[in-house]
Amino acid sequence: MTTESTAGGLFGLDALLDNPVFAGGFGLASLGFAAAFARKGAMVAAATARRRLLVNVEISKQDPAYPWILSWLSQPRENPGFIASRLTRIHDLSVTTTTASQGPPGTGGPSSASFFLQPGYGRHIVKHGSAYIAVNREKHNTANMNTGEPHEIVQLTTLWAHRHVFEEVFSEAHRLAAKANEGKTTVFSARGMDWAPLGDPRKKRPLGSVILDEGVKESIVGDVQDFLSRQQWYVDRGIPYRRGYLLFGPPGSGKSSFIQALAGELDFSVAMVNLSEMGMTDDKLAFLLTKLPKRSLLLLEDADAAFVNRRQRDTDGYSGATVTFSGLLNALDGVAAGEERIAFLTTNHIERLDPALIRPGRVDMMLRIGEATRFQAAQMWDRFYGDVDLDHSNRERFLKRLDELGLFGVNPDGEPSYRHTSTAAIQGLFLFHKSDMQGSIDTAEALIPRKFEAGDAVPEGAIKTPA
Ligand SMILES: Nc1ncnc2c1ncn2[C@@H]1O[C@H](COP(=O)(O)OP(=O)(O)OP(=O)(O)O)[C@@H](O)[C@H]1O
Ligand SMILES: [Mg+2]
Repeated sequence: MTTESTAGGLFGLDALLDNPVFAGGFGLASLGFAAAFARKGAMVAAATARRRLLVNVEISKQDPAYPWILSWLSQPRENPGFIASRLTRIHDLSVTTTTASQGPPGTGGPSSASFFLQPGYGRHIVKHGSAYIAVNREKHNTANMNTGEPHEIVQLTTLWAHRHVFEEVFSEAHRLAAKANEGKTTVFSARGMDWAPLGDPRKKRPLGSVILDEGVKESIVGDVQDFLSRQQWYVDRGIPYRRGYLLFGPPGSGKSSFIQALAGELDFSVAMVNLSEMGMTDDKLAFLLTKLPKRSLLLLEDADAAFVNRRQRDTDGYSGATVTFSGLLNALDGVAAGEERIAFLTTNHIERLDPALIRPGRVDMMLRIGEATRFQAAQMWDRFYGDVDLDHSNRERFLKRLDELGLFGVNPDGEPSYRHTSTAAIQGLFLFHKSDMQGSIDTAEALIPRKFEAGDAVPEGAIKTPA
């Protein structure tokens, strides 16, 4: 009794609590306090639970797995059941369209288009096996300095107990991507300081469709395959695992086509650099060569461009924004050069190259891919008309015609004719007479290389448009 009255006397609590306004206010305040406390507690608990119970994987757009994961996400999934199907419905989609214009002439625009739907930005839920995976695709408002593209990420979250599902997801996504690129060759080109696929992967070009002179193709293919099987040999001896090839010769002899076909044969991609491209500098080239895409053939077209450049520098002291000769040499085997590499250089002007380039480690093998020979002309004929010219009689007539025209370097009287044609020209002739052998024989003069002078009238019939 005494205690009570003392407490009441000390704080006047009784009196205060008797006051209905105060009691109400106090009650509300304590409720608010409790709610705030509970909320904070819940947030801490949720954060802890998330940390403890969930696993996150973040994939950025720069990672090669990014497009794989997106296509994996857009895979159709088998009847997930009523609840799962409601939960995992994706409402925001983005579309990637590819068009092909193979329609008959005159129809105008693209004849076929394929639409590829991917989960859009935002949050989605997918189910893989028994695990639910929360997906968050986000676009950031910062951008990649090299390409100017905004940063993007995809974040996958699942329960800790289901963390092993990610291994499955990634390997399945990779398998899907590999299957989509089966039978295709990806060509990479430099975009900014990075490699990016140049268009869609192309259909592999069969090696048999490139016709080089007897034994030439076999010697390069054999050498590349031998090199590929000897990685350990190089490692054991401490030699950088690199090999370089230089293909030179006149335009249209099949150099680029051969490299593309070889990449297909080896199941490699092609990483292409154009040395005369504006903005390609020595530093950039060196940097790009240190981070070549895996399993790719490096292709440096028109290697002579770097040599022309050196001459420019000699006269005016300025090299322009292209690669210089020493820049090319350093990129190929300077200290910073990548450790593993197969490089192909091509040029139409071997005489402009410097002997310093043709040195083991930079270029180990040099081959001339020259004008069309009799052997090549015969093989090309067989590829185009082999199924109709069963007894080869027309092929012999065609070759005889080319002999008469002196297109293999000698005239019928045995004197040198100094006249040649290219495999590209032969292909052009056959393409013009797809199913007309006689037409190809009759118009074989078109294979005679013609030098156009300014002011030359274009000969009648030289440029035909399909009817
Ligand atoms: N030896 C060949 N076998 C089959 N096709 C060929 C051959 N040579 C040229 N062609 C055809 O001619 C076209 C041009 O060939 P390609 O681009 O490979 O020539 P290139 O030697 O790289 O020429 P350039 O030196 O001008 O770059 C292609 O369509 C290709 O199919
Ligand atoms: Mg070429």
